Amino acid sequence: MKLMRPMVIPPFGEEATLARLPCLAWFVGLRRARRLPPPLTPCTEHANGDHVHGASIFAPAGAPADAIQTLSLFVLAITGIIFVIVGGLMVYCLVRYRRRSDDDGREPPQVYGSNPVELAWTVVPIIIVFVLTTTAIRSTYEIQAAPPPPDSLQVRVVGHQWWWEFQYPALGVITANELHIPVSDPAHPTPTYLTLESADVAHSFWVPRLAGKTDVIPNRRNIMWLAPAQSGTYVGQCAEFCGTQHAKMLLRVVVHPADDFARWVQAQRQPAARNPGAEAGRQVFEATACVSCHAVRGTGASGTFGPDLTHLMSRETIGAGAAQNDLANLRDWVEDPNRLKPGVLMPAMQLTQPQLDQVVSYLASLR
Ligand code: CUA
Repeated sequence: MKLMRPMVIPPFGEEATLARLPCLAWFVGLRRARRLPPPLTPCTEHANGDHVHGASIFAPAGAPADAIQTLSLFVLAITGIIFVIVGGLMVYCLVRYRRRSDDDGREPPQVYGSNPVELAWTVVPIIIVFVLTTTAIRSTYEIQAAPPPPDSLQVRVVGHQWWWEFQYPALGVITANELHIPVSDPAHPTPTYLTLESADVAHSFWVPRLAGKTDVIPNRRNIMWLAPAQSGTYVGQCAEFCGTQHAKMLLRVVVHPADDFARWVQAQRQPAARNPGAEAGRQVFEATACVSCHAVRGTGASGTFGPDLTHLMSRETIGAGAAQNDLANLRDWVEDPNRLKPGVLMPAMQLTQPQLDQVVSYLASLR
């Protein structure tokens, strides 16, 4: 019997969802996957002390997610009351007027037309719909109309099949799949404004604990903002079907305290590290088609179809969250990206085993 290769599931968005559906997780064999880290609880402590937060919409970590939660709870309360009243009346009628053994089989008295009753079931629902609509419009308006403070951080987000590009034009930083932003003190908000564009098909940017979904549409610019009040890592996911690997178009938002964020920016602005031990790998990398899709700042590699690799090793994942960014997975990925992410647009470069080792050691030097 041929054993299936264990699925490599990262501790991110989809697993966080699956971890809450134990039967489904069991069904897809998640529990048996050998490289699977322990299931994510809503808040997991990482080995390095970082918190990785789950993806519950009921645990907002700042604006605008908290406004969305307030609205959701309000709508849930009203619809819940309607459900209890309607369901309760139905159960009462089913029990109270059920068929009994001593029924004489005659039709009960029929009532036709009642102005008060008809007025009530017309006017009350209209009022309910009016209240729900106006509160939703008000929340939407308050979120969308919030003007960016003059010194707010601006990030350009570009959706690609199947990864996220993050450009910080004012800071001269380009990275992928892991968005880094500063924490925003609710007393003095420092929101991050995202301009969302797509390089190919429609995607949707969604980090449940930070904000609602925003579509990422070709030939259009959408704007959204994030103002998380707690630092940590928040998982997210492309929320619009965009092709084969839509499910592995994961994203993470790393929220730093202000000084930490400044340090991250400083490190990202540096050109690629030059490591004499990785020269052979660099030559292989630059001699193959890698350079037509990937950029490594300070070298001849300047492609833009794939993620910028200048500081590849500063990212926790590869393949937009398809796997943890470690040497074993990196080697697997370069050897044949389709193994970790079937349908991925990055081809296998047909490197020999020694070339593969050299390229991986070069990539590992990109800190
Ligand atoms: Cu991108 Cu779904």
